[in-house]
Amino acid sequence: MRDDIVCPALAEHADAIDAIIRAAFVDTEFGYQGEAELVRALDADGDALVSIIMCREQEILGHLLFSRMNVEADGRTLSAAALGPVSVLPKFQGQGIGTGLIRIGIMILEEKGIDISFVLGHEAYYPRFGYSPDLAARFASPFAGPHFMAMMLDSAAPWPLGGRADYAPAFGRMG
Ligand SMILES: CC(C)(COP(=O)(O)OP(=O)(O)OC[C@H]1O[C@@H](n2cnc3c(N)ncnc32)[C@H](O)[C@@H]1OP(=O)(O)O)[C@@H](O)C(=O)NCCC(=O)NCCS
Repeated sequence: MRDDIVCPALAEHADAIDAIIRAAFVDTEFGYQGEAELVRALDADGDALVSIIMCREQEILGHLLFSRMNVEADGRTLSAAALGPVSVLPKFQGQGIGTGLIRIGIMILEEKGIDISFVLGHEAYYPRFGYSPDLAARFASPFAGPHFMAMMLDSAAPWPLGGRADYAPAFGRMG
């Protein structure tokens, strides 16, 4: 991690990012489900909010995307970001790269003044960053369930009582 560099993903990185996403997801429980195309579609739609890469000695080892969401709570619109996909090349997994990308991505969201972030993922992994299934359960969503988690970016902000959370349109075209 010491010599790793995190930087914004640029157009010139697109092919390398595609390859990382495919390699990372092919080995997962559900297999590759078009996550690379999803990232390209979110970018083309202008819904990519934070797209960052982790590099070590010129090689890109991981990628993380936060995309724009449409979220309303307690009668007002919240600025919101969905975490994922996050991908690390299989042979470099378990070295803290995913954790580093997520922590830096969350700091960027805080700097941007984003109110809330959601993630659909493993309940053993994302709570360490502050994501909570109890907060997400207050929002109506097609993804509602134990894997759906949320976090207020300002940890002192009160939790909304209820609302709805919609992912960017590209998620609906997956599949
Ligand atoms: C998930 C992923 C991004 C994590 O990155 P990483 O660099 O391997 O993870 P780190 O080294 O930072 O963290 C390791 C921790 O993550 C946990 N972890 C890794 N993948 C996990 C998964 N799919 N589900 C639950 N926990 C996971 C490990 O068990 C380990 O936990 P520990 O700290 O309690 O031992 C990476 O493993 C990956 O690309 N996986 C395939 C794609 C994927 O499933 N992405 C997530 C859904 S969008």
